[in-house]
Amino acid sequence: MSGTFRLAQISDTHVRADDGGVAAAHLKRALAQAKDYGADLILLTGDLVNDAGEDEYAVLAEAIADPPAPLYLMPGNHDDRGLIRRAFPQHLYLSHEGPLHFAIEHFPVRIIALDDIVPGETHGLLRRSGLEWLESMLSAERGRPTMVALHHPPFLTHDLLFDKIGLLDGEAFADVISRHRQVLRVICGHHHRVAFGQSAHAPVIVAPSTSWTYGLALNEGQQIAPITAEPSGWMLHAWTPAGGFASHFMGL
Ligand SMILES: [Fe+2]
Repeated sequence: MSGTFRLAQISDTHVRADDGGVAAAHLKRALAQAKDYGADLILLTGDLVNDAGEDEYAVLAEAIADPPAPLYLMPGNHDDRGLIRRAFPQHLYLSHEGPLHFAIEHFPVRIIALDDIVPGETHGLLRRSGLEWLESMLSAERGRPTMVALHHPPFLTHDLLFDKIGLLDGEAFADVISRHRQVLRVICGHHHRVAFGQSAHAPVIVAPSTSWTYGLALNEGQQIAPITAEPSGWMLHAWTPAGGFASHFMGL
């Protein structure tokens, strides 16, 4: 690893089995770029596939078979926990039952990944169990710089659709974050566009999708979630002990 810790956050890949390999090719392009930028760690922050299909996870497995750095998978609302477990048995950090929360401990920045999905629903919810897990994980290591990742934005984006299908217990999430100053950043996906917000003291960064970008619907009457020509991409989060985090949008 160089003097900078580099995390490649690749989100909302929406890999499909019936698109001629387009979404998988976008993911592979992002991985190639992450390699060029010397990523130390790659985190896929949910909506790994489009329709939670077994065949789609097989396409995903092929696309990530030779990652340029350790690669971790988080679920989004388009995913199925059981199928992720079955398709990726070598990913030993994935729990055998319940939510797929995990921590990545062996890098200069500690990563806490939360599974906030609700099977069959589009919104996110950590529930008491997820919030308690987060609290216990953060309480165990108060002195280490930490990043928290989840699929759904935990703040109000003011988008007419995405505020209805965001993290429904974002206030309770912020309450936990407020007790842990070591949380330097929160990262998420879901919105398919770059956005920035706040959870307690921590800046929140919403990564774009590698597959497609949604436009913003701020006013009543505006089209909800129109697919736009804005570039798709991923986020490179670079960190040094002295300089902290800088996050960069990387267009595909
Ligand atoms: Fe998505």
